[in-house]
Amino acid sequence: MQLHIHRNPKSHISEAYRLLRTNIEFSNIDKNLKTILITSSGQNEGKSTAISNIAASFASLENKKVLLIDCDLRNPTVHKMFGVSNINGITDVLTGQKDVEKCIENTKVSNLDILKVGKIPPNPSEMLQSKRMKSFMEAIKPHYDYIFIDAPPVGIVTDASILAQYVDGTILLVAANEADIEATKIAKERLESVNANILGAVLNKFEADEKSYGYYNYYYGSSSEKRKPKRGLFGRK
Ligand SMILES: Nc1ncnc2c1ncn2[C@@H]1O[C@H](COP(=O)(O)OP(=O)(O)OP(=O)(O)O)[C@@H](O)[C@H]1O
Ligand SMILES: [Mg+2]
Repeated sequence: MQLHIHRNPKSHISEAYRLLRTNIEFSNIDKNLKTILITSSGQNEGKSTAISNIAASFASLENKKVLLIDCDLRNPTVHKMFGVSNINGITDVLTGQKDVEKCIENTKVSNLDILKVGKIPPNPSEMLQSKRMKSFMEAIKPHYDYIFIDAPPVGIVTDASILAQYVDGTILLVAANEADIEATKIAKERLESVNANILGAVLNKFEADEKSYGYYNYYYGSSSEKRKPKRGLFGRK
């Protein structure tokens, strides 16, 4: 897992994240899209990697303050993306053991804060469904321009469907050649059944073609990076 946007801002992958950011910004016209969740039908499709990079990409916009919350209480990952420990997180806040100010931390990416999971709870769904979680989401909103939320797969546990009800928009990530089409359709239906505002689908882990290679080559001709991407990431339905 890598924070490409931070480590290699000129790479084709970082450019793809910026394109995705633009697409999300465009879907924001006439709407106040502030809290955005990511999920997928299955495991390991690349949600945590994508949302961390998307959050970093938004943080690079002028005067925008961004928070990334790890709400995958079963399999916390955001702390790994930023190379920090998983102590003091949202579960400590929700159980009243720690103040939120003590748990939110700055990252090496300017204007990007993270709230990790903290202690893994025995009852993730109940915790996410609690009144405390709902009011926490409302209380944190005024402090940031954008809040991104990493979630477990919607096809496996109910957590993402619960979280989708608290946010302004949901991204459904689909890993090319990995995701099962039927499972992805079911994932979409599950989100729709809780009235989630699905912003679009992001196709991940697909082989980029010559055309997109040319595009990035044109833009970043001076980059010392290997030119032809092995893997690509971008695209909205
Ligand atoms: N675009 C990509 N191309 C190639 N590999 C990728 C891409 N995005 C993510 N990966 C890799 O896929 C693996 C899973 O990534 P990640 O943890 O982000 O997935 P996830 O959907 O959050 O998983 P989980 O369902 O367990 O939460 C990691 O090894 C990551 O480096
Ligand atoms: Mg994950």
